[in-house]
Amino acid sequence: MKNKRLEADELEVQRQEVLKQWSTGAGVNLEEAVTYHKAMPAEKVFAAKLAKAKAEGATLAQPRGGTTLLQEQIDLLQYLQDEGGADFLPTTIDSLNRQNRYQEAEKVIEDSKKAGHSLRNGFPAVNYGVVACRRIIESVNLPCQVRHGTPDARLLAEITLAGGFTDFEGGGISNNIPYAKNVSLEETISNWQYVDRLVGLYEEQGVRINREPFGPLTGTLVPPCISHSVGVIEALLAAEQGVKNISLGYGQCGNLIQDIAAVRSLTELGEEYLAKFKYKGMMLTSVFHQWMGGFPQDESQAFGVISWGAVAAALAKATKVIVKTPHEALGIPSKEGIAAGIKATKQIINMVRNQALLNSEELEREKEGIKVETRAIVDKILELGDGDIAVGTVRGFQAGILDIPFAPSRYNAGKILPVRDAQGAVRFLDHGNLPFDKEVIEFHQERIAERGRIEGRDPSFQMVIDDIYSIGKGRLVAIGSV
Ligand code: 5AD
Repeated sequence: MKNKRLEADELEVQRQEVLKQWSTGAGVNLEEAVTYHKAMPAEKVFAAKLAKAKAEGATLAQPRGGTTLLQEQIDLLQYLQDEGGADFLPTTIDSLNRQNRYQEAEKVIEDSKKAGHSLRNGFPAVNYGVVACRRIIESVNLPCQVRHGTPDARLLAEITLAGGFTDFEGGGISNNIPYAKNVSLEETISNWQYVDRLVGLYEEQGVRINREPFGPLTGTLVPPCISHSVGVIEALLAAEQGVKNISLGYGQCGNLIQDIAAVRSLTELGEEYLAKFKYKGMMLTSVFHQWMGGFPQDESQAFGVISWGAVAAALAKATKVIVKTPHEALGIPSKEGIAAGIKATKQIINMVRNQALLNSEELEREKEGIKVETRAIVDKILELGDGDIAVGTVRGFQAGILDIPFAPSRYNAGKILPVRDAQGAVRFLDHGNLPFDKEVIEFHQERIAERGRIEGRDPSFQMVIDDIYSIGKGRLVAIGSV
C-alpha cells in the first residue's frame, strides 16, 4: 500500500467485487449517475454551498439524523429543513450497514415495516439502494451528506453517491482507530483510497463531491494537534486520488481561545501541506463539531453547552457547525429535539457573526502552538514513510508518533493522556511518543502544573477521569477553576 493514485484497471477489478457485495450494487451506473448529478440545482450541491459560505465568512448549521424506514427519513429531513432551518442535511447510516452486515439490516427493515416505525437508529442506505437514495434527495431542497463511521465504506459510497448525495464523511484513519478494534490501517487506508478515487472519477466528469474526514475522533479531550494531524493526512490521501473539495473537522474542546485557534489553524495547515505536495484546485473548508463528549442530562444545561459551541464556531468562522441536541445525554433525539439544537445554534450565529474578530496575543500563541505540534507529527510521519504519507501513517501509529486518546484500536499506541489546564484548554499530561521538542513539552507541563497549584492537588490520572465527566456535570474544568 502506497499513497499513489489507483490505476483504472486496479479500481475496476475492485469495483466489480464491491458492487457484488449486496444486490443493490447492480443499480449503480456511474455514467448515468454523472448525468443525474449534473442536472441537480447548485443549491443542492454541498461543495457549491460551502464555497459560497467560505467566501462570505458565514457559518452554516447541519444536524445529524437517520431512521430505518425511508418515509420516516424523508419526513425527518423535511422537518429539519422546514421547521429546523437547517442549512445542510444529513443521512446518518445505521450500525449494521457501517459493519457491512447487510443481511441483518434487511431483517431490521422488515421488522420495522411490520412494527410500523423505525426500530433502529440510522438509515441502511446500502439495503435501500440508489433509487431510494434519490427519493430522499428529491424530497428536499438542501445539500445532503452521508454521515457514518464505516471502516469499509466502498459499497456505501458507490450507492449513496450514485443516489445523489454530494458529500461523504469519513476516512481511512478517522473511521478506523476510533471505531474498530481489530482492523488494520493498511486495510482501511486502502478502502478509503477506493472511496476517494471514486469521488475523483466524479470530479473528472465535472461533478463536485465534498469529502469530510471525521474530525472529532474519539470525541473527548482530543488535543487539536492530534485531530489536525489526522485531518491533514486524510486530506493528502484524498487529494492524491483526485478529490478536490475537503472539509476538515475539529471537535470542540471547550476553551474559547483554543477552539478558535484550532479552527483557524486547521485549514491553514491543510492548505500548507496540500501546497507542499503541489495539489492544485483544492477547496478546503472547516467543520466545527459541538461538544462530542458527555452532556448534562438537564435540557437547559444542554442548551448551554450547545450555545457555547455555537459561539466558538461563529467566532472562529468555521464554514459549518454540526449541532448537538438537548436530548444528547438521554438517548436518540426526536425531530423536535434536533430542530431545537439547530435553532439555538443559528440564533447565536446570527447574533455573533457581525461582531469584530477576536484577536489577541494569546490566540496567536495558541494557533502557532497547534501548528508547531501538528507539523512535528506530520513531518515525522512523512520521514518514517520515506516521503509516503500512507506508509508513514502505518509506521507512525505503530510507533505512537500519532496517537489518539481513548481509542479502542489495537493499532493505536494509546500512550498519551490529555487533561485540561486551569482555563480548560486541553493539554498533554503524558505526550507518550509524540515527537515534540523540549519547549512544547514544557509548555504543556507548566500549564497543567498551574492547574494543580490552583486545585491543590498533583495532576494525575484522576484529573483526566474528572475531566471526561466534567461538562456532563456542569462545568468545563472538573474541580476549581480560575
Ligand atoms: N439523530 C440525531 N443525532 C444523533 N446522534 C445519534 N443518533 C442521532 C439521531 N438519531 C448524534 C449523537 C452522537 C453523534 C455521533 O450523533 O450526538 O454523539
